Amino acid sequence: MDSIKIRGGNKLNGSVPISGAKNSALKLMVATILTDEPLVLTRMPDLADTRFLTTLLQHFGAAISRDSSRMQLHTPRLEKSEAPYDLVRKMRASFNVLGPLLARNGEARVSLPGGCAIGARPVDLHLKALEALGADIELSEGYVEARAPHGLQGGQITFPFVSVGATEHAILAAVLAKGETTLENAAREPEIVDLADCLTSMGAKIEGAGSSTITITGVDRLKGTTHAVVPDRIETGTYALAVATAGGDVLLEDAVWKHNEALWDRLAAAGVNAARADGGIRIRSENGRLAATDIETRPYPGFPTDEQAQFMAAMCVADGRSVIRETIFENRFMHAPELMRMGAQIDLRGNEAIVTGVESLRGAPVMATDLRASVSLVIAGLVAAGETTIGRVYHLDRGFEGLEAKLAACGADIERVKE
Ligand code: UD1
Repeated sequence: MDSIKIRGGNKLNGSVPISGAKNSALKLMVATILTDEPLVLTRMPDLADTRFLTTLLQHFGAAISRDSSRMQLHTPRLEKSEAPYDLVRKMRASFNVLGPLLARNGEARVSLPGGCAIGARPVDLHLKALEALGADIELSEGYVEARAPHGLQGGQITFPFVSVGATEHAILAAVLAKGETTLENAAREPEIVDLADCLTSMGAKIEGAGSSTITITGVDRLKGTTHAVVPDRIETGTYALAVATAGGDVLLEDAVWKHNEALWDRLAAAGVNAARADGGIRIRSENGRLAATDIETRPYPGFPTDEQAQFMAAMCVADGRSVIRETIFENRFMHAPELMRMGAQIDLRGNEAIVTGVESLRGAPVMATDLRASVSLVIAGLVAAGETTIGRVYHLDRGFEGLEAKLAACGADIERVKE
């Protein structure tokens, strides 16, 4: 298994190109199921997760080709509408094929998902949304069996709490349903807007994406289109926090300011200079230690749970005590014990982590546990004295395109060790 070796202490200077958003790319790829015409996605990140999904979509009959960051997906006919456990278990987002398979084919059988070990992560809201669109759903031997022999019908869906995946799933199913669908308490993440933009250019009728109420008027068919994946706000936040922690001056190319307002606010409080610049966002952290700052994760536009671990790494070497509260997922502090092995002082109390900044971290062998947790160990390694080796880096490969190359280009001493 590969590992990543970092010798800490270098500041970061230069620029980092921000890739297309993983979380958006995965839902956009699924849209190929909804049309018999080619769908072209540009600014497509090349990640373990996009490769998993490629395999799954090919299993349904999609022809998928890739030329650098341009991917073409074409599903003239659905050859299967069953997604087996082996293909779904590796990545939770693959569950989102259920609604589109049902919309195109009238029936589908999809294994219940696996994915990151960050809590129970049920799919009840996904299933309720599909039922509200007229699907008959049965659970049998770890599979969801769904039928809509006369097609899906528009419906009224009020989510009891915000779910990104369930909102996207409902949109992907409702675009081909008969009549109007209203989603209340919908997620407002930029990835939802990106999905709605792409589907709209395929001929879908969607109003209100980016707000809590989304209205979809079903159409008979969707056509192909070319769509550029939105720049990755989580990758943006991750590099911003790497610079904040290690120090330096870096331009995050193509990063979108308004997609990370909550982070910019917290970084300003911590004493980091983040500003819009020509071609992206410039992060400068040149004044020594950060000031300890509290965060609480919230659905967008609040502070993203996917940047919580990285923020915690920054706070490990800040001046003072910060309180980090996680409200989206239970069990999302798995990085804390690993950071403690590097000398961090963290007190875990339920969904709160109280971090007391230390003078310096020490390099250590540590283990990646999930995607965002593992990149927090990279950030800690960049500022730690000595060498940090991070094992199980397949977690990182799921979501960060060219991580070592991007950091090395800014002066980090980082390499991948193949085993
Ligand atoms: C997506 C992102 C993930 C991010 C998360 C929250 C992708 C591929 N993943 O995950 O990186 O951390 O949004 O911003 O886009 N829940 C239920 N029942 C459901 C669905 C969700 O109880 O049917 C719960 C979850 O367990 C969690 C909360 O709702 O506690 C929010 O999860 P959700 O927004 O659905 O996250 P994902 O879409 O899985």
